[in-house]
Amino acid sequence: MISGAAKIAGVIGFPVKHSLSPKLHNYWLETYGIDGAYIPLEVEPKNFSAVLQMLPKMGIKGCNVTVPHKEEAFRTVNKRTELADHIGAVNTVVVEENGSLTGDNTDAFGFIENIKQEAKDFSFKNIKAVVLGAGGACRAVLAGLLKEGVQEIVLTNRTREKAEVLQKHFGKRITLLDWEKRDMAVNEALLLVNTSTLGMQGNPPLEINLKQLPSKALVTDIVYKPLVTPLLEQATKQGNRVVDGLGMLLYQAVPGFEAWFGVKPEVTKELRHKILGV
Ligand code: ATR
Repeated sequence: MISGAAKIAGVIGFPVKHSLSPKLHNYWLETYGIDGAYIPLEVEPKNFSAVLQMLPKMGIKGCNVTVPHKEEAFRTVNKRTELADHIGAVNTVVVEENGSLTGDNTDAFGFIENIKQEAKDFSFKNIKAVVLGAGGACRAVLAGLLKEGVQEIVLTNRTREKAEVLQKHFGKRITLLDWEKRDMAVNEALLLVNTSTLGMQGNPPLEINLKQLPSKALVTDIVYKPLVTPLLEQATKQGNRVVDGLGMLLYQAVPGFEAWFGVKPEVTKELRHKILGV
């Protein structure tokens, strides 16, 4: 039950029906007994900027921003964090005391924190990583890996031009490889990340030969529907350690929740089950 003093935040998307964020944040609100609510807001692209600027006037604490609004949010906010600037997209907006909007991107944190928590002894420092796909989600993954000190990232994407744009933006530690040659990329890599939508429910599986992948390499997928993608299944069979993509979604939500509601929430096994609906 919320009172008249409840703190309000939400997620803006178009569509927004599929978003798991309301379930996630409201679970935390209940767990910590916070007087607050987190609501889905379906806003058309043409209205997005105006709606975002309206949040302080309505006393709303902030919001998450999802597809297709992340770039428009980047342009609309008054101030951005360094990471949001580097990624070129904003997924978390905080309304400051003075009513200004600060834009952050917590996807990189979510991606890295998921691996750190699920594979505690894994080290990013000076390793070679392979990243498949060059869509929106890839930018956060690259920014996160570079921040953690990965030495080289081999980036491969069906449409090479999109990978080239990312290489230009993120710099020399990114090397490009043609999509057709992806089987060769995994040689000597200690981390393999799928950021493409291949393997997602309703999409074809990701086809890749992992024979050259070192046995101590970690394989992770940002797809979490299904939780165990064909790639993760293949990697597990081969004896590689895997981390599924659900944790990225859960951890990316932590900084926003803390900023809006004043409590740093925990990602627990129970939360994972709750979100998966089991
Ligand atoms: P997101 O924002 O979630 O990353 P996206 O921007 O639509 O989603 O990116 C989807 C990624 O999956 C892209 O890298 C896309 O490759 P293209 O850049 O060539 O489109 C990749 N992808 C989707 N379907 C694919 C397929 N059938 N084969 C290879 N790559 C595919």
